Amino acid sequence: MLINGKTYRTVWMADGLIHAINQLLIPAEFEIITFHDTSEVVDAIRTMVVRGAPAIGALGAYGLAQALQQLPRLDMDAIHRIKSQLQQTRPTAHDLAHGLKYVLDHIGPARTLEEMKALAVEAAETYAESSAKACKQIGAHGNALIEDGARILTHCNAGALATVDFGTALAAVRMAHYDGKSIFVYVDETRPRLQGSKITAWELAQEGIAHAIIADSAAGHYMRSGDIDIVITGADRIAANGDAANKIGTYEKAVLAGENNIPFYIAAPLSTIDFQIRSGGDIPIEERDESEILYIDGQRIASPTSPAMNPAFDVTPAKYIRGIITEQGIFKPEDIKTLADRHA
Ligand code: MRU
Repeated sequence: MLINGKTYRTVWMADGLIHAINQLLIPAEFEIITFHDTSEVVDAIRTMVVRGAPAIGALGAYGLAQALQQLPRLDMDAIHRIKSQLQQTRPTAHDLAHGLKYVLDHIGPARTLEEMKALAVEAAETYAESSAKACKQIGAHGNALIEDGARILTHCNAGALATVDFGTALAAVRMAHYDGKSIFVYVDETRPRLQGSKITAWELAQEGIAHAIIADSAAGHYMRSGDIDIVITGADRIAANGDAANKIGTYEKAVLAGENNIPFYIAAPLSTIDFQIRSGGDIPIEERDESEILYIDGQRIASPTSPAMNPAFDVTPAKYIRGIITEQGIFKPEDIKTLADRHA
């Protein structure tokens, strides 16, 4: 992605150090943060310095590769412990488990620690590269759905910052813009963490794409008044039947889209699909701290003694999803199963 005239990826590794764009500071500041060890990587994923399913998939892969560089001896138990420590940071995102498994599978043939270290870095690099490539392809497929003049609604941030590069939902938007289509994006602000108003809007502004931030609760109003032609969001985990977990509030957007005959699409790489999970009911939903609801920028905005509940994701049943835009094309949710063999 191009930021202030320079090309960046969301996360990368060089000389044993992991670097990433600090998403907690956007849009106020643009900072590259460096992670030196597993505890820093775990903390960054948990606190959402790096967030978005494919981005944390790549960070997990790099994090495991980095941890291996620091091991004094070949110790498979330690490697598995580090893997599960990284994996537990965000339970809903399937990409995280996928990225970790990818590195673990690729170090399998190694006989020595040195061999293992080299294979792990190579695997993490390949993983990040192919994740970025998949997102670019998602953009090309998604672009075909966006007509000149389209008004698009998106929720949360499924942009370049949520991935290694390009984004998923926003990759399609970007490609449509690069093709010269005149488009307008309605950006749900996405309470409680405001990924829409802080990150998606910032990415669109960087690209000069026309957009406006709306309160989450305004989406229905714009759908009903005929102002939205298509809804595209990302996903954190898709079950084998096409049910999709994404940022809390996505489900209600999908239902509203259905009610108003507006096509609702999910854009996600195959790494987001959990073929082991039959339906959305089996997807673990991350519950985050109540402080995210009760405070904004350290300032309590709620009644002083009231508690809050904070599920980070919800599940949209497949029946509301017109199609899933992947790097291999656009699939009906019921056809997702057919990809399992190709992806194995
Ligand atoms: O809690 P977040 O900000 O990590 O949630 C992110 C989302 O819900 C995204 O839509 C999803 O990860 C897809 S990113 C391409």
